[in-house]
Amino acid sequence: MRAHYYLGLAIILSVLNILEAKCKKCFPPDFIWGVSSSAYQVEGAWNTSGKGENIWDWYTHTYPEKIADGNNGDIATDSYGKWREDVELVRDLGVGFYRFSLSWARILPDGTTGYVNQAGVDYYLNIIKALKEHHIEPLVTIYHWDLPLTLLHQGGWLNKTMADRFAEYATLCFELFGPYVKHWVTVNEPYIHCYNAYGTGLHAPGVNESGTATYKCLYTCALAHAKAYRVYQGRFKEQQNGQVGPVLACSWFAPLTNSTEDVLTAENALLWDLGLVADPLVHGNWPQTTIDRIGNLSSLQGFNSSRLPEFSDKEKLLMKGSYDFLALNYYTTDIVTPIPNVSSIELTTISYDIDKNFSPSYDPKWPQAASPWLRSNPIGLRNTLNWLKDRYGGPRIFITENGWSEKQGILNDTARVDYIKGHLCNVLRASRMDNVNVIGYFYWSLLNSYEWTAGYTELFGLVEVDFQNPDRTRTPKESYYYYKNVAETNCLDYCPFR
Ligand code: NOJ
Repeated sequence: MRAHYYLGLAIILSVLNILEAKCKKCFPPDFIWGVSSSAYQVEGAWNTSGKGENIWDWYTHTYPEKIADGNNGDIATDSYGKWREDVELVRDLGVGFYRFSLSWARILPDGTTGYVNQAGVDYYLNIIKALKEHHIEPLVTIYHWDLPLTLLHQGGWLNKTMADRFAEYATLCFELFGPYVKHWVTVNEPYIHCYNAYGTGLHAPGVNESGTATYKCLYTCALAHAKAYRVYQGRFKEQQNGQVGPVLACSWFAPLTNSTEDVLTAENALLWDLGLVADPLVHGNWPQTTIDRIGNLSSLQGFNSSRLPEFSDKEKLLMKGSYDFLALNYYTTDIVTPIPNVSSIELTTISYDIDKNFSPSYDPKWPQAASPWLRSNPIGLRNTLNWLKDRYGGPRIFITENGWSEKQGILNDTARVDYIKGHLCNVLRASRMDNVNVIGYFYWSLLNSYEWTAGYTELFGLVEVDFQNPDRTRTPKESYYYYKNVAETNCLDYCPFR
């Protein structure tokens, strides 16, 4: 009797094990795990060791009222002083990659290659070498929004020659760090950068001309990327054997209903935000629908030519195919609907948002992060990956950012764990079920850090930083340990395929 009981129990347990194993799903063996950061958001040391002033130093000092808590990145997480600790946190996390950005003004204080600040170069060489000693690969962002202030005085990204300054700076980076760095991304999120820096005016340098300046900035950024890519191909690739890609950013845009109009609006929205950056680099020009829309509106509005700059044939050739992989920063989803009857507004308002011609909303059931724009809809990531695969012919894709913000002081960050779980499951499905060539995932970010105009009020880190403490003490959160387990096992405990 007793024997039967134990036999039955054993059978039930093994069936449960089989069922559980069926739901435990693993990433491809060479899948890359990483964490991300950026210079202005973590380094601090804004005016030490020869660093030049950049637009964020200037902006936050001049207009503290534009930042939610009036704060700045003068000290931030003090990663300039505490980089060794950061490297150890990355090592203990068990990931194979660390994405960080180079501060242009720390290396070239006046933005040009006329003078190189050796202390800045050494800082990055030290980090890179320490990472390599721990078998961690650097993925380096050349520009993450912190333009040297001197270059703003030359017109910043509205001046086409900025593409040349960027290419010169990138060339120097390839020379200095290229022997150790095999993965480069050029301009972080040109769309978000250009929209906020030159459109809404919320980010440095605070220009508020969204229907014109945003496009000029995007145009220069596309050329900047392509020039840097070609330099790498021509002068460094053979010896250094690395790869260079652009960083795209986008919400997934979901149609409100299945009506043809809503579906077209959603597709158009994707072409607008993702396509404006990716199409020129993959196909050699802006998306045709965008060219038509801005061209038509511009002429109705009395402009002599389109507000969207035109690429020359030479520039199209330079740009076309200028990538080895695409890097995607994905956070959230918007539901889009067309804007009805905008014709009178269209004619009087010169604005990127009117050009786009859709209005975003969201599903109130989606969990809300501390950032007002951030809600969790994990399937949006899978959809975005599929969209990129279909439009750009199955490129290799790194997810270089994905993350969740909360307020200070939450170590037991279950909402972040849920966010990561949900999104990773959708990455896995995209990889295993949809054949998307997604090769890595980087959580944003390693540390709680400076969140641009939100100051220190929206914190994305796997690691808490005590900003009241001059030592900027770091404490790993629950999500750090969750992500460590995923990175080390390469598997998710539960992710049914559907
Ligand atoms: C994207 C940006 O690259 C990064 O700087 C920012 O902190 C995160 N999004 C979160 O907003």
